[in-house]
Amino acid sequence: MLEDTSFAILPENKQDTTGKHYLDIGNVLSIEKQQNMYQLTCTNGFVTLCFYTDAILRVVMNPTSQPVLDLSKSIHVTPLDVSVSEEDSEAVLLLKTKKLEVKIEKNPLRITVKDENSRILVKEQERGMAYDQNGEIRVWKQMEESDHFYGFGEKSGFLDKRGEKYEMWNTDVYAPHNPETDPLYESIPYFMTLRNGKAHGIFFDNTFRTFFDMKSEIDRYSFSAEGGQLDYYVLAGPDPKKVLEQYTYLTGRMPIPPKWAIGYHQSRYSYETEAEVRELAANFLERDIPVDVIHLDIHYMNGYRVFTFDRDRFPNPEKLIADLREMGIRVVPIVDPGVKQDAEYPIYQEGVQGDNFCKYIEGDIYFGDVWPGKSAFPDFTDEKVRKWWGEKHAFYTDMGIDGIWNDMNEPAVFNETKTMDTSVMHRNDGRPTTHKELHNVYGLLMGKATYEGMKDQLQGKRPFLLTRAGYSGVQRYAAVWTGDNRSFWEHLQMSLPMVMNLGLSGVAFTGPDVGGFAHDTNPELLVRWTQVGAFTPYFRNHSALNTKYQEPWQFGEKYETIMKNYMQMRYEWLPQLYSLFFKASQTGLPVMRPLFMEYPDDERTYNLNDVVMIGDNVLLAPILSPGVTDRAVYLPEGEWILWATGETFEGNRAHLVHAELADLPLFIKKGTAVMQTKWVSNQEKETKQRSMHVVAGNPGDVYSFTYYDDDGETFAYEKGDYLKWNIEIKSEEDAIHVTILDKEGNYLPPYKEVDVNLAELKPNQNVILNGKTYEDKQQFKIIL
Ligand code: GLC
Repeated sequence: MLEDTSFAILPENKQDTTGKHYLDIGNVLSIEKQQNMYQLTCTNGFVTLCFYTDAILRVVMNPTSQPVLDLSKSIHVTPLDVSVSEEDSEAVLLLKTKKLEVKIEKNPLRITVKDENSRILVKEQERGMAYDQNGEIRVWKQMEESDHFYGFGEKSGFLDKRGEKYEMWNTDVYAPHNPETDPLYESIPYFMTLRNGKAHGIFFDNTFRTFFDMKSEIDRYSFSAEGGQLDYYVLAGPDPKKVLEQYTYLTGRMPIPPKWAIGYHQSRYSYETEAEVRELAANFLERDIPVDVIHLDIHYMNGYRVFTFDRDRFPNPEKLIADLREMGIRVVPIVDPGVKQDAEYPIYQEGVQGDNFCKYIEGDIYFGDVWPGKSAFPDFTDEKVRKWWGEKHAFYTDMGIDGIWNDMNEPAVFNETKTMDTSVMHRNDGRPTTHKELHNVYGLLMGKATYEGMKDQLQGKRPFLLTRAGYSGVQRYAAVWTGDNRSFWEHLQMSLPMVMNLGLSGVAFTGPDVGGFAHDTNPELLVRWTQVGAFTPYFRNHSALNTKYQEPWQFGEKYETIMKNYMQMRYEWLPQLYSLFFKASQTGLPVMRPLFMEYPDDERTYNLNDVVMIGDNVLLAPILSPGVTDRAVYLPEGEWILWATGETFEGNRAHLVHAELADLPLFIKKGTAVMQTKWVSNQEKETKQRSMHVVAGNPGDVYSFTYYDDDGETFAYEKGDYLKWNIEIKSEEDAIHVTILDKEGNYLPPYKEVDVNLAELKPNQNVILNGKTYEDKQQFKIIL
């Protein structure tokens, strides 16, 4: 292709983007208050403002008519009754809540939002809201020198997105994933700004192709969309955690995952036969390597027809699934949206007869080529179709399957545009519109259909869903993996900021293909990636057709032993990770997070890409390059203990840390604690052992955390069947206090006690557990 040669930079190809004409919204002509909304009529359009909470302001601009306020596919709350004080003058309307101060300048309309301490969050100056004659809408905001930007969902490149320009248009990108490869599979039009240690957020709830530009101008950023309304929320913060809580208050939080889903997943495109899958499972058991899930990629189907099994390759899937379950392993099959055009295929027949497929306005079904050849695509924007699709999953649940992998749901189509024709119409629950408007939510709505259908059929058991495409709110239904990466060290490096930014965008349950999908992996890369994978929220090894097999034993015993060690470690850490997933389900806070989330005043963390935190007290500084056994590790304030050796490292500075191939630099902060268990075997994953690992701190250190547990499989927790302890660790000169501040829930776990191990205890320090003194004891038990 000529575009792939120097032709791409032919002088005549220079694009001229200057001088594009936008029409400014103009002056405010009138303001009307309707219940909790302020409706502004302006010279060139209409604007509505509304407070969702004290700390969340919504602004909607519509160029031609009163804004429509109920179009969102991801907001699942309505505005609270917020008390607002108003000061109106000729030139300015000032609105104040407990947390926000909104200054509306009228001539022309410019909006400035400040927090309760008069800290400016967003400010419009020369340019504000505007649009062009093709329906593009856009707004500019002032950018400060100290602004750093995070979030934007699934983007390649570094953690801090200052100086970048992004597009949101769900796209199937096979393998390049360079720093400039944009857009990818997910669209999360949301970001957080960190300015001098304080944070605020913006969620631009527009499902058209959208753009965020933090690059083109030195003191202004902008966001825009190809159509629709300029509909956005300002989130007051004031710190990164609060912003994320506010964003996930609006768009929802992940359900507590089944415990098995946060274990290890083994995948391959494809394990092609029943015999191969059985051999794979047997290998894990024989070698005592932990695994919870084996994925079935497209070869399991009959001619890639979804909701079928190829009975030559998989003669008895029911028995396979049951036998694997006995071994402690679950099967998760892939389900793509494309339904093969085949008059004899029941799903296609039902789809046509039930009028469930996407169509052109003239009434013809849209067909696109995907794995099965010419295919039709369910219109997930319609409730009736979502229900139909959901119900079809009885095919899988009846076989004993409780997890599904949704792929190609951008939707991907094998053509020039990589997707469906944008003029295809969607039913959109009674408000028909084009694919141009709803492309970015196709995957989200497929996820909704699948998750809800599975949930119905599983009768009280938690479904697991993995998805490639999504939009804001995807966390309510699915875990997200970052698509077709490659077996490159650069892709291991890049996976950390990607997972962190997804976490900052509300998607806590996420991870890359460990070992790399495309290209051949190599033992050193696989080992280093598995070390990281043991701590990424979603942990799956997956590789592509025609690449080297990359199961943990493929490169000999030396490497297998190391990987096995880290995979078992994942299981030892599951009580801790599960408690963090519980937190994510309650607050939206990610499991894996950037350091600045915990240390927002520490500038050295603002673009730290190769050190991550697991929760608020564990820090991971993996080796991310070949042949490297020494690396610099920046540690934030406090003292940090190297997990493997117990060595102490001072914070607020960088250290050179040595790590042979078998070593992973993992640190725990002094004065804190983590929950652990022991690895037993694949058949016995719900272990009967629990321990709390406490690292004594310095006098004055106080740390509190939540330990959460339940049956890990059902929704019984909704009825109070869970265990929740809020625990405090307090370090004093002569004692360490471990106090269970409060206990909640009725769940009776299989363990009857929690072993407490004290590290870093000084000789003169006692341990005081719930007020009772244990002299000189480094180990004791909490009896349940
Ligand atoms: C896509 C997916 C990949 C999968 C393949 C075959 O490339 O991203 O994970 O293995 O399709 O289904």
